Order: sequence, then C-alpha cells, then structure tokens
Amino acid sequence: MPGLHPVSRIDHLECSRCGRRRSANELAGLCDCGAPLLARYRLSPGEVSTRLLRDRPWDMWRYREVMPPGEPVTLGEGGTPLLLVRRLSREVGLEQLWIKEEGGNPTGSFKARGLSAAVTMAKHCGAPELAIPSAGNAGSALAAYGAAAGIPVHVFLPRDTPALFFEEARAYGSTVHAVEGTIRDCALALKEQGAGKGWFDVSTLKEPYRIEGKKTMGYEIAEQMEWSLPDWILYPTGGGTGLIGMVKAFEEMEALGWIGSARPRMVAVQAAGCAPIVRALDQGEDAASLWENPVTRAWGLRVPGPLGDRLILKGIRGSRGTAAAVTEEEMADGADLLARLEGVLACPEGGAGVAALRHLLQAGVIRRTEKVVLFNTGTGLKYLDNPLEVGRG
Ligand SMILES: Cc1ncc(COP(=O)(O)O)c(C=O)c1O
Repeated sequence: MPGLHPVSRIDHLECSRCGRRRSANELAGLCDCGAPLLARYRLSPGEVSTRLLRDRPWDMWRYREVMPPGEPVTLGEGGTPLLLVRRLSREVGLEQLWIKEEGGNPTGSFKARGLSAAVTMAKHCGAPELAIPSAGNAGSALAAYGAAAGIPVHVFLPRDTPALFFEEARAYGSTVHAVEGTIRDCALALKEQGAGKGWFDVSTLKEPYRIEGKKTMGYEIAEQMEWSLPDWILYPTGGGTGLIGMVKAFEEMEALGWIGSARPRMVAVQAAGCAPIVRALDQGEDAASLWENPVTRAWGLRVPGPLGDRLILKGIRGSRGTAAAVTEEEMADGADLLARLEGVLACPEGGAGVAALRHLLQAGVIRRTEKVVLFNTGTGLKYLDNPLEVGRG
C-alpha cells in the first residue's frame, strides 16, 4: 500500500464516541463500538499559512494539509461560488444573505465533495469494489468517481427515486439495484447482498472520509468571507455529513490559527414529513429516534434514521443553533424564489433553506441584521422532469 501523502497532516482516525485510535492508512469503516470514525490532523497555529493557498487551484483539494492523504481522484469538485443574493435578501427581509451554490459540482451536487474524498482513500487503500445506499445524488457521485478510479460500483436506490438517477448511475457503468422503501431499506439490502463479496461500504459516516470532503464547504465559506464566518448557516439535513463536516472544519481552522473562536449558529433544515433531528432537538434528546413513514419529495432529506444523529445534535447545540421543518409547498416556493429572483435553479433541498429562513425570521430567532448563508446543495436541472409533487407519498 502506498504511504501517506507528504503534504497531508493527517495523523490518525479517532472514534467519535469511545475515542479509540486507528491508523489512517488502511481501509476503515465504523469503530468496533459502532460509532463513526473522524480523521485527525496535526494542527497548530502558525504552522500552515493561508498564503500557501494563493497559488493553488480553486477546488476542494486546495486545503491539502487537512485532506486525506491519497492521490486525489478528482473531477474538479468544490470551489463553488458564494453568491451575495440581494433580491432574495430584500424579499425575505434580511440585510445580507449568501447562497453557497453547489449545483455546479461534478454530477450536479455537493455529494461530489464527499465521494471524491472517500473514493480517493478507497483507492489508496486498495478497495476492490464500492457500494452505497443513496437517495439519488450520492449514488450518481459514487458512480462517477468509481468510474474515474477504475473501481466497480454498486448503487442501491429506493424504487420510487426519479428514473433520471437510475440512468445517471448506469451511464457511469455502475450496477444499480432498486429497493422497495427508503434509503434505510437500501442500506439493509446492501448489507445482505454484499455479504462476503468484499464490497467496501461508503454509506454516510460508515467510512471516515466523506466528511473530509464535505467539510471543505466550511473552509471555502471562511476563505470567501476573508477568514470570517457568517452568523448563521442553514443546511438541508438528511444524513447530516455537511453539517458535521463544517463544524469540524471550523474547529480545525481555529486550531490552525486561520479563524478565531466565533462560530456560526448551525440550523438543520428538514422536511415536515421526515424530521427526526427537529423532533430530537425539540424533545431534548441526545439521539434521534426512527421517523416512521417518511414522506418527502426532497429525496436527500428522506433519511428517517441518520447514523450521525448524535454528531448532528451536538453540532447544533454546540453552536447554539436550531432545527426547522418545512412543508413540501414551502420548499417548492423557496426553490421558485431562488430561480426567479436570483437565477439559481435549486433542488427542493435548496428551496427548503429559503423556507426555513422565512420561519426563523418571522419567529425572531434570526435578526434582519445578521449574516446568513443558505445552501443550494444540488442543481434543479435533475428535478425539472420530476417536479416536487406536493403531498404524494
Ligand atoms: C440535494 C441534496 N441536498 C441535501 C442532502 C442531504 O445531505 P446530507 O446527507 O449531508 O445531510 C442530499 C442527500 O442526499 C441531497 O442529495
């Protein structure tokens, strides 16, 4: 197996629950105690200067020191625009609002970041085949990065996922399995069908590197705001990797001396028909219980039992953040506003952020003078033939 990349400052993997350490140079799933592993780096102030970034390409691998050590399997992911959206700000009654527009990533969503990092390390460590349960976008991204890495891919999608996602994953040469139910049933089917076959499972948080890709959204926001951070970040939360990843990025940047101790307040935005994190937060729980009969056409939010529930809730509480649930109609209206007022063709999950922002402004939780970043996590192009069908189960 190749050695660690000389620029990456990775040190080890650490269990997010029991703290047990493991080598960062071998294929890793969950900790033996069942909790997700997190990558840890050698970080101290003054050792890595932001000046190093000046001559590097504007993609997510520019943060090489705090990225996994394999030779990147890259399609140019990251480096997405942070748009100051004046017309939408006026419409909702906020002074400064930005959209982190992730629709321009390879395969059309922010999932490219996580899967680029995960496939990089899977290749580095010699995984023979890769498998993923997905709501759509993650499957497409794994299929593309698997193709680029020359590693066979198996994608498990809920049968009612729009046909486009099946076709997209197949176009990259992966084997696509249709499963009755939700992403949770897909995970069970993967486990059953993959048993004994040596498939490496790259499910959200079941391996440690998707988070490392997703955290670069936090690094980029800080760099785009000249090493400051907004007051609030609203993030459409299914599995929650992006939220957990950004909280990790802020801790790392502080350890590097790139930013101070001020943090954005993190908001998990969910669909009213599948809101396990909102419910757990309301009820003061440390973990989220399974959401029965999840219903939403924002496929990425149809995650009834996220594996990273504890980390998501910790990230929200630790930042004095909150969570908000929005209806299908509100999401569709939000996406409509993004398109009509700002020229951003958003996915339903992106529209959900606008809807949640309206709720939180109305409730006086967010003040109109505060700086807010919303995410459009994927291109709306994939949804034009599959419009959000309000109320359909
Ligand atoms: C477009 C889109 N937005 C948001 C999400 C939720 O992302 P996460 O699993 O990181 O919470 C997904 C996940 O499938 C998605 O495809």
